[in-house]
Amino acid sequence: ILLNNIQIAIDGPAGAGKSTIAKKIAESLDITYIDTGAMYRALTYKAIMNNISMYNHEEIIQLAANTDININKGELYVDAKYVKDEIRSQGVNDHVSYIAQIPGVRKILVKLQKKIALGNSVVMDGRDIGTFVLPDADIKIFLTASIEERAYRRYSELLKQGENIDLKDIEKSIVERDRIDTEREYAPLVKAEDAIIIDTTGLNIDEVVERIINLIMKKIKKD
Ligand code: DC
Repeated sequence: ILLNNIQIAIDGPAGAGKSTIAKKIAESLDITYIDTGAMYRALTYKAIMNNISMYNHEEIIQLAANTDININKGELYVDAKYVKDEIRSQGVNDHVSYIAQIPGVRKILVKLQKKIALGNSVVMDGRDIGTFVLPDADIKIFLTASIEERAYRRYSELLKQGENIDLKDIEKSIVERDRIDTEREYAPLVKAEDAIIIDTTGLNIDEVVERIINLIMKKIKKD
């Protein structure tokens, strides 16, 4: 494989550090980063803003079909509007897994994700990248960390954004999100057979990034 056509899939539970790590890998390899969770979040945010119930699958699918999602230089644009912190709120956290469960929604977003990756070098993070979106990815990583550490990371993130939250509540919400993501019928969160597990508990970001880059370099040399 050439570095100008490499696909890296990073999956794992909530708060394992996927997006931070994926972004750094993309920067250091100078390739495109795609945060697929942000797409499900953006749709959830839009549903909340439009007062659409997450149980109304028909309307949510309609909404997905009528939403223009773009990623430019790693930044997300929804209906041509730049979105960032608003999709990381606890309100979105609590609803997103219900919306991501809907097969009709996933079909629309997965199609878009595959289209972005086609013919490009990408690092993509999510829940079903190694299994569904990029089953032929060159490198598949399954990132995990202890629930305590994952909760603490999300807690610090939300605190920085000025949200008033309780660590125990965050932990509960992560456990619940992982449960729904893992138990859903269509494209659940599961380690791809050929994915490499990295447990990031107690590791800092740069150590994990370095480990993954080493894996990529080894793979390139071998091919
Ligand atoms: O990675 P994240 O926490 O931003 O993802 C938010 C939610 O979106 C997650 O709880 C499940 C869903 N998701 C998904 O179902 N499939 C993906 N590829 C990415 C995210």
